Amino acid sequence: MNEIKNELTDYAEKFTSGESDVLQELRRECYEKYEDSSMLSGFFQGRVLAMFSKMIRPRVVLEIGTYLGYSALCFAEGLADGGKVITLDVNEETNKVARSFVEKSEYADRIDFRLGPATEIIPTLDETFDLVFIDADKPNYSNYYNLIFDKARPGGFIIADNVLWSGKVLDAEKDENTQALHDFNQMVQADDRVSNVLLPIRDGLMVVCKNV
Ligand SMILES: C[S@@+](CC[C@H](N)C(=O)[O-])C[C@H]1O[C@@H](n2cnc3c(N)ncnc32)[C@H](O)[C@@H]1O
Repeated sequence: MNEIKNELTDYAEKFTSGESDVLQELRRECYEKYEDSSMLSGFFQGRVLAMFSKMIRPRVVLEIGTYLGYSALCFAEGLADGGKVITLDVNEETNKVARSFVEKSEYADRIDFRLGPATEIIPTLDETFDLVFIDADKPNYSNYYNLIFDKARPGGFIIADNVLWSGKVLDAEKDENTQALHDFNQMVQADDRVSNVLLPIRDGLMVVCKNV
């Protein structure tokens, strides 16, 4: 079954538009040099995120969890004229690398990096978000959702990554991260202010639309 799934994944990738040279170089460097390279969204999910952004045409994207800037660059592809991606991370080292790749791209003036714990930065942001991507520490997913909710535009979107957590959300005994993600999924599902769909893409994307 896995083999068929892998063949179908390859087929889906084959019939998906390519990424920019900068994204390709960034992915190559990540896989070569970083032990935690699985944190990067990757080719197929990156194309899905870029496509969402092109469909939404956001003025302001908030990303929680920059890592090497791969997904920020994907979201930048769909920005409305004058739009920007604000991206948050705590890690100075990976942030430097992310900045260097963004500098090489056509989106250098459209990605706004903020360094520090997201729970401290989000309350200081005055923007209204058209799209929020939650992709940082798992125990804070529900906190992030609650912190950004009133700052999201009615009709705006919230996307959370890794909500299937390699299938561990099905385990009877859940570790801290798995429990946090399962609690997050339950909280979103019970929230009558939104509609949502959990897409089984890569490690699971929860896509949420805030009611108008
Ligand atoms: C999965 S990676 C992000 C991947 C990136 N969005 C992508 O798709 O290429 C998670 C990032 O969250 C950051 N992070 C962890 N805890 C954080 C916190 N409390 N506030 C902000 N960022 C945090 C980590 O440093 C890491 O770079």
